[in-house]
Amino acid sequence: MRRSVLLALATLALSACGSKAEDPVEQIVVRKPGESAAAASTPVADDLLAKGKAAFAACSSCHAVVPGAAAGIGPNLHGVVGRKAGSLAGFAYSEAMTKSGITWSEAELNAFLANPAGKVPGTAMAAGRVADAERRTAVVAYLASLKN
Ligand code: HEC
Repeated sequence: MRRSVLLALATLALSACGSKAEDPVEQIVVRKPGESAAAASTPVADDLLAKGKAAFAACSSCHAVVPGAAAGIGPNLHGVVGRKAGSLAGFAYSEAMTKSGITWSEAELNAFLANPAGKVPGTAMAAGRVADAERRTAVVAYLASLKN
């Protein structure tokens, strides 16, 4: 077993020698048996979502996230990523929002939360600006996770 791993590494090293100089040898990732790439990255993603969920407390006074829940002061944000801005039926959006032409991607949400009135001049969302970039990334990741 150990012998075959060494052999595999040696083969990789040899093939690296024969290839272009820019092929980084550091790409060889050594994992313990049973440890997958997914298992290694999941805690980080979970951590980001947990941070996002916590940060969303500042939004939940106005926004529901449970599918089908009634709107509050703001529209329900379940499934907002991929949705056309100002398009949730039954919510009275500002004209600024309905005519913004935005389709909410993670990047668009990030820009909106950085400066709501700058991104959508005339928006009715008077609060909810998230100045901290890390916090914003976490909230947007949380919003992106809210589907089905
Ligand atoms: C004081 C209430 C309030 C708070 C707090 C608030 N929002 Fe809003 N939000 C609104 C209102 C009202 C709108 C509708 C804006 C419009 O029509 O111009 C809106 C719209 C939005 C939209 C566009 C939704 C759509 O269907 O197009 C997103 C995304 C959003 N808010 C995210 C957030 C996030 C994330 C937070 C917290 C960081 C937050 N909001 C905090 C009131 C609020």
